Amino acid sequence: MMNLAMDSHIGKMPGLVLLSVLVLLLQHPLLSLSNSEGDALFAFKQALSDPKKVLESWDNSLVDPCTWFHITCDSNNHVTRLDLFNSDLAGSLSPQLGQLPFLKYLELNQNKISGKIPQELGNLNSLVSMDLSHNQVEGNIPVSFGKLKSLKFLWLNNNQLTGSIPKEVTDLHLQVLNVSGNHINTNGNIPNEN
Ligand SMILES: *[C@@H]1O[C@H](CO)[C@@H](O)[C@H](O)[C@H]1NC(C)=O
Repeated sequence: MMNLAMDSHIGKMPGLVLLSVLVLLLQHPLLSLSNSEGDALFAFKQALSDPKKVLESWDNSLVDPCTWFHITCDSNNHVTRLDLFNSDLAGSLSPQLGQLPFLKYLELNQNKISGKIPQELGNLNSLVSMDLSHNQVEGNIPVSFGKLKSLKFLWLNNNQLTGSIPKEVTDLHLQVLNVSGNHINTNGNIPNEN
């Protein structure tokens, strides 16, 4: 009996030591866990003005962004959806928004987002649907969108986009490509060569 009790006591020691080391590591500011998807979303937030405070719950000190409003994560705590339509957001799209490798749905329609579409959004490997319609984005449709091999729905209608639709984008197997209500040259997708 005595020996058994001793053994189990000793058996718990390494676990306790490990736990203490872990607690010490987590308290060390330089070793605090950072979450790259949370950082990307926080950079996106910081480039926008948010009069309705829809992004108020986006607190970058949390372990991951999965509890933030308007964010959906999968069972591995990776961000899969960003739902922020009709939220009065103004400002421009941060290039860091492209650093969400598991994002499937980017729904930002009906805001007041302006500026150019960052070419980095072409890095969203998992993206199925992008809705930027009814905003004020300008410039060209990024050629990098040709890398969005999972994309099925691309809503860019009712913005200030110019130029033509890149061949790389028309070559994608999209179910919806809506560019109406822009200044896009849709005459056979041939860029002007003056
Ligand atoms: C594309 O957008 C325009 C303008 O908002 C809309 O009228 C039209 O129905 C849309 N097309 C499709 C296929 O949904």
